[in-house]
Amino acid sequence: MAKIDILVGTTLGSAEYVADEISDQLSDLGHETMVHLGANLAELNQEALWLIVSSTHGAGDLPDNIVPFFDEIQAKSPDLSQVKFALCAIGDSSYDTFCQGPEKLVDLLIQCGAQVYVDKIQIDVQYDPIPEEPALAWLSGWQDQL
Ligand SMILES: Cc1cc2nc3c(=O)[nH]c(=O)nc-3n(C[C@H](O)[C@H](O)[C@H](O)COP(=O)(O)O)c2cc1C
Repeated sequence: MAKIDILVGTTLGSAEYVADEISDQLSDLGHETMVHLGANLAELNQEALWLIVSSTHGAGDLPDNIVPFFDEIQAKSPDLSQVKFALCAIGDSSYDTFCQGPEKLVDLLIQCGAQVYVDKIQIDVQYDPIPEEPALAWLSGWQDQL
């Protein structure tokens, strides 16, 4: 059984819904999950997998609810060399900055030593109006290695 901290970045709620569905699928497999809408370093387990489920807003920006977490990491530059993470990005390809918001967070995590656990998925709501479907299919592709 693995521990998975799910970090949500959302403005309109769609990424939160995807995160909840991912959490349910992992829980059904017997894993221990925690969904964080306002993540902070103190409450995250560095031995857990950090699964970032985030949309993009503004012009390639992180949703407001996850910006304090980004700011905290930027300010503290913690040693995250124990951390493994995965990214489920949700965006709209009609924007030049398709899915770029969470890339800023990912770049920062890597700078702090965190490692990519699996290849990310970028879900395009232009073509996938029900983003939980590709998200759960993506998860099914690697959940057995947890
Ligand atoms: C004002 C606004 C700005 C957006 N900017 C971007 C963007 O820069 N890049 C992108 O890929 N998607 C962008 N989107 C699309 C959202 O990421 C997409 O609608 C997503 O499903 C919203 O998920 P959420 O409900 O979890 O916030 C934008 C949407 C809005 C309403």
